Amino acid sequence: MPIRLMNSADIPAVLRIQGELAFQDWNERQYEIEIKAPYTYAVVYENDGDIIGYAVFHLLGADSELLSIAVRNSAQHSGIGGKLLQAGLSQLDLEKTDCCFLEVRETNLKARRFYEKHGFTLFGIRKKYYADGENAALYRTEKRSDIDPSRKGV
Ligand SMILES: CC(C)(COP(=O)(O)OP(=O)(O)OC[C@H]1O[C@@H](n2cnc3c(N)ncnc32)[C@H](O)[C@@H]1OP(=O)(O)O)[C@@H](O)C(=O)NCCC(=O)NCCS
Repeated sequence: MPIRLMNSADIPAVLRIQGELAFQDWNERQYEIEIKAPYTYAVVYENDGDIIGYAVFHLLGADSELLSIAVRNSAQHSGIGGKLLQAGLSQLDLEKTDCCFLEVRETNLKARRFYEKHGFTLFGIRKKYYADGENAALYRTEKRSDIDPSRKGV
């Protein structure tokens, strides 16, 4: 399985992916803090020693969230993002999280299609959420307790 937990040695490669995609998440120090936090589930997709994608989740019970996901340009649209997302959602299930939230730039239609394909539903728009004034589209998964009533109260 090419998906494994992110560690400190992966951070430079993760930052290179961010740079390649002109995609701003965290800096090196923020990643160092993130991957040590007990509530973080961060994974990378490694192929022949190269990190080609990553995803970071916060497992916080009812407020669990997908913070970031990215795949190198050259490897996009070949299912890797989907595998990273599913790895996180499976972990959320193990942690008995009831649902997962995320926000994404309203104009990022590629990512929005990707999330919708993987079971996320749009539930709102947060106006001017980003520093440059762009709106955020807010998504969530279905509540697991609605799908499986035996999970009520998790
Ligand atoms: C969003 C992202 C992680 C998806 O990863 P991926 O490995 O390309 O996704 P997968 O191959 O598993 O899934 C494919 C689905 O994603 C969407 N998608 C991916 N690449 C696409 C493209 N070039 N054009 C249109 N849709 C695309 C489609 O819904 C596609 O489904 P389809 O195959 O039925 O058309 C990736 O596009 C990415 O890194 N984007 C830049 C960073 C980003 O925007 N992250 C999210 C911000 S919150």
